[in-house]
Amino acid sequence: MCCARYTSYLFRRVVKYTCELAGRESDADMSLKQGSGTGKVHFGGLDDVSLYGTPVEPAPPAPDAKQGFLRNQLQALFQPTDNKLAMKLFGSKKALMKERIRQKAAGHWVIHPCSSFRFYWDLCMLLLLVANLIILPVAISFFNDDLSTRWIAFNCLSDTIFLIDIVVNFRTGIMQQDNAEQVILDPKLIAKHYLRTWFFLDLISSIPLDYIFLIFNQDFSENFQILHAGRALRILRLAKLLSLVRLLRLSRLVRYVSQWEEVYFLNMASVFMRIFNLICMMLLIGHWSGCLQFLVPMLQGFPPNSWVAINELQEAFWLEQYSWALFKAMSHMLCIGYGRFPPQSLTDMWLTMLSMISGATCYALFLGHATNLIQSLDSSRRQYREKVKQVEEYMAYRKLPREMRQRITEYFEHRYQGKFFDEEVILGELSEKLREDVINYNCRSLVASVPFFANADSNFVSDVVTKLRYEVFQPGDIIIKEGTIGNKMYFIQEGIVDIVMANGEVATSLSDGSYFGEICLLTNARRVASVRAETYCNLFSLSVDHFNAVLDQYPLMRRTMESVAAERLNKIGKNPNLVAHREDDTTSEGNTINAVVNALAAEAEHVSLSDDSVARLSERSLGLALQPLQAASCRMAGVALPGLGVAAALPRPKSEHDFSSTQAQPPSLSSVGAAFHKSDAGIAP
Ligand code: CMP
Repeated sequence: MCCARYTSYLFRRVVKYTCELAGRESDADMSLKQGSGTGKVHFGGLDDVSLYGTPVEPAPPAPDAKQGFLRNQLQALFQPTDNKLAMKLFGSKKALMKERIRQKAAGHWVIHPCSSFRFYWDLCMLLLLVANLIILPVAISFFNDDLSTRWIAFNCLSDTIFLIDIVVNFRTGIMQQDNAEQVILDPKLIAKHYLRTWFFLDLISSIPLDYIFLIFNQDFSENFQILHAGRALRILRLAKLLSLVRLLRLSRLVRYVSQWEEVYFLNMASVFMRIFNLICMMLLIGHWSGCLQFLVPMLQGFPPNSWVAINELQEAFWLEQYSWALFKAMSHMLCIGYGRFPPQSLTDMWLTMLSMISGATCYALFLGHATNLIQSLDSSRRQYREKVKQVEEYMAYRKLPREMRQRITEYFEHRYQGKFFDEEVILGELSEKLREDVINYNCRSLVASVPFFANADSNFVSDVVTKLRYEVFQPGDIIIKEGTIGNKMYFIQEGIVDIVMANGEVATSLSDGSYFGEICLLTNARRVASVRAETYCNLFSLSVDHFNAVLDQYPLMRRTMESVAAERLNKIGKNPNLVAHREDDTTSEGNTINAVVNALAAEAEHVSLSDDSVARLSERSLGLALQPLQAASCRMAGVALPGLGVAAALPRPKSEHDFSSTQAQPPSLSSVGAAFHKSDAGIAP
């Protein structure tokens, strides 16, 4: 809409100026004048309908408003946009808006370094710089017709743009190294800063010194017609040398590239970018060196012992000359040889030395960066290898037996899987929220496989998993020793463990998704059985302090664990009261639950606990305490329990209540036990 209005306005301006040129006033102009009184402008003769039959838009704003519009557009172009650089500097869109307001308040025509204009300007400058730095040396060294129109046009155009760049630099805000967020927008400060830093280098590399020299040298203009006359030739050569000053533009290239590198290529990309830049820089230096190899003998007039004369290239086509020169330079730079012939003259020898030094420096830098890149590509694997090497040395130093060495090596392989990360340090460097998210994500398979978690409140799960420690046990390892005092419990992510009684009998086996070692933590007594790893076991341990801290916040989960623990104790013929009588069970809900667990245990002591008997038992016992438990469960879980079945009254994760309510048959206690211990019985021999 705005665009269409502006087009019609432009059209009328064009008509007006065309008519003015023709010496008469246009209809449009007339109508402009007529409309000016009423504030409404009409197209003379064109009516209120456009060519396409649509109504013509309302009158465009007065020319002043249009100027304002243009001004606004231009100013918007100079303002910071939400590009990568701006977001890196200011962090958020809000801060960016503030910066825009600050720039507007400054009220000057200052270009923000994060503006779209500056971005595209830098991009154009980068392209022009690359073109200049490639073309200039070739033109200076291989083309004698320095005064051809093409060459002059190219030079004039690029010189003008580089001079404009100086003006643009005077109006571009400055990002400070130490205080990145505070961009200098005061033109006086900008000018001061620019004058102190890059101004003179930029100016010298932009001024067409060679042409100024030629213009001021009158002898040259007199001898212009006879270019090859001795004096004129010398003047021309001097002008050529002066034009080499343009190559100082390389400093701008380095500036722009390093700035872009910093902003747009982080992490791995930055290493690749640095290598890419280095290769480009090496090629550029090779190119310059090649041109220099030819320029010097050319300025000397190709002495017979110069490499050009030896190769008989004086009159050759420029591309052939350039190719041999480049070959020579590259041979020096890569320390491969001297080209076709070794240097014969003193000048050639010095030139060779120069290109060897510059080339070797670049080559060394390149090798350093490439090695760095290769090493950083797989730092975790490298760290793992280093760690294994150290362990091997340690085992040899301590003269460990072969079998133990084998076990240690296998442990390392299984535990770290070829990559070593200092996970604690990495996670410690993250924000609390991120750390929690990462841990939750890492433990997703555990949470999914452990029914105790899968059905629990997500806050409970999050609280527990953030406190878990990953541990690996090898087959045959005694994870828990009966009779010892325990300080942690375990969740099985992967693997099989045997619950071994004092007489060496295996009571049962637990596998993925189950947990063990909780009884000791619940009772503060000694371990009731030993636990032995049958296969490689990936476990997550929870320390007693964390265990108590979390379960104190979620009493329902404690009850769930206690009820399962009582059942387990029963199975191995121990007194389930161990978990039922706790000092802190003072609430009426706690007493009720304990009563249920005790009743269950007492009866179970006399009955062999088949699934059916447990189910019957639970239904009978739970029938007694159903009402108070329902109320307790509702209060503790904070959820409504519609249509409660018998099993739903047991304290358990809230999602299981929902599940039970959808079942036609309420699950028995044994099935509850199974829900929390999916592998308790499955693997028992
Ligand atoms: P704790 O006594 O701390 O250490 C030994 C663990 O073996 C014990 O906790 C229980 O977690 C586990 N355990 C003992 N008996 C059984 C059983 N019958 N079924 C499953 N696990 C058991």
